[in-house]
Amino acid sequence: MSSYDVIVIGSGPGGYVCAIRCAQLGLKTACVEGRETLGGTCLNIGCIPSKALLHASHQLHEAEHNFAKMGLKGKAPSVDWAQMQSYKDEVIGQNTKGIEFLFKKNKIDWLKGWGSIPEPGKVKVGDELHEAKNIIIATGSTPSALPGIEIDEKIVVTSEGALSLPKIPKKLVVIGAGVIGLELGSVYARLGAEVQVIEYLDQITPGMDGEVCKTFQRLLAKQGLGFTLGAAVQKVDASKTKAKVTYKLRKDDSEHTVDADVVLVATGRKPYTDGLGLGDLGVEMTERGQVKTDSHYATNIKGIYAIGDAITGPMLAHKAEDEGMAVAEVIAGKHGHVNYGVIPGVIYTHPEVASVGQTEEQLKDAGRAYKAGKFSFMGNGRAKANFAADGFVKILADKDTDRILGAHIIGPMAGDLIHEICVAMEFGASAQDLALTCHAHPTYSEAVREAALACGDGPIHS
Ligand code: NAI
Repeated sequence: MSSYDVIVIGSGPGGYVCAIRCAQLGLKTACVEGRETLGGTCLNIGCIPSKALLHASHQLHEAEHNFAKMGLKGKAPSVDWAQMQSYKDEVIGQNTKGIEFLFKKNKIDWLKGWGSIPEPGKVKVGDELHEAKNIIIATGSTPSALPGIEIDEKIVVTSEGALSLPKIPKKLVVIGAGVIGLELGSVYARLGAEVQVIEYLDQITPGMDGEVCKTFQRLLAKQGLGFTLGAAVQKVDASKTKAKVTYKLRKDDSEHTVDADVVLVATGRKPYTDGLGLGDLGVEMTERGQVKTDSHYATNIKGIYAIGDAITGPMLAHKAEDEGMAVAEVIAGKHGHVNYGVIPGVIYTHPEVASVGQTEEQLKDAGRAYKAGKFSFMGNGRAKANFAADGFVKILADKDTDRILGAHIIGPMAGDLIHEICVAMEFGASAQDLALTCHAHPTYSEAVREAALACGDGPIHS
């Protein structure tokens, strides 16, 4: 029986980052992973492969729509789907092997197999039992299916099947206008599929800033995505080659059907803790099936911790990473901490959408006095040169103190631009602090500064 200071179960962004930080802090560490490769959902069947397909399909879109305008003439590229798939697989391989390298470098043992916790202080992997002073559950999440819908990962798929379809469907129906539905819907729309998104609520990407949602839907519709909002999907009837989706419009209860070659079910994810033995151990769970933890990620059972999608909070890789580092520090006797008020959210469509902190709706509901500074990318020279002038930056600041409370960006590189606002918020900065910071010209980031200026005496370029 080998014994460790820490055994992390799961090697996704939460788990592998946690294992590396534990090792860096001098703890003898192992990580259990049953998949053939490290990296979890994010690297193998999530964030990374979807970004490869988003990148490739965006390049095609640029070639088809903008090359000729810049004087780049000639035949537009056609899609070699098999090659695009192998490009995607290569990207996955590079990343997962990178984690394997980091494990070796940090002397972390990869315990290959699916782990369970037969008793506190013990982890079973296959037939082997290992001892651990601390066990960290970082087992992530899995798609949550809808009742009446059977997933076969061929015709009716989750995000996993959607990344490896045998061919580009003529008609794709996406159930759920959340992050997964819109990212993958964008990919296939750009690759030539007719895409219809069916969403239960009356707006796309619920929870996001309302103004951003409206602009986002308009821009996606311009790219050819069709939206049926306020519609509850009832069932999907699938044959070997086709599917029929039945939904009810909530406003009048009328029933409708739509045919599809492929149906993507993107209606959320749920924590994945199957087979760990948590029930027998008496680990407390929330009503939503998440592992209950305290502010130090400790469960009610001594020596067992949990992080990432398996616990409460947004299901985001970077939130899991931060929790992984924090719990490692807690176990090592340091002061691990995550600021949940400053966790950015990004949708990697084109344009990208990014947000941090509070939305206008949340501030209004809380009765908080705030001001909004907004700047359109139409006033940004770099964006205009790059055919990327759709969208805007909006910064929300306290009306009296000018302290930044939130920011919402739809536009080019929004997912990168948001981070200067994250840093500003971490330092408790005011909008004026951002406005007084020199921003290089010509960059997209000038739009952030202009939005900050708009919280004060006004932007220059609008
Ligand atoms: P989501 O929770 O973002 O969106 C699901 C959508 O499905 C909601 O808008 C919901 O109203 C709708 N829906 C639910 N039942 C329905 C029904 N019967 N008929 C029609 N619509 C229905 O979930 P999603 O997109 O599956 O993503 C899962 C998780 O993965 C999220 O927490 C997300 O943040 C995370 N994720 C994050 C990414 C990123 O940060 N870029 C990328 C991919 C996933």
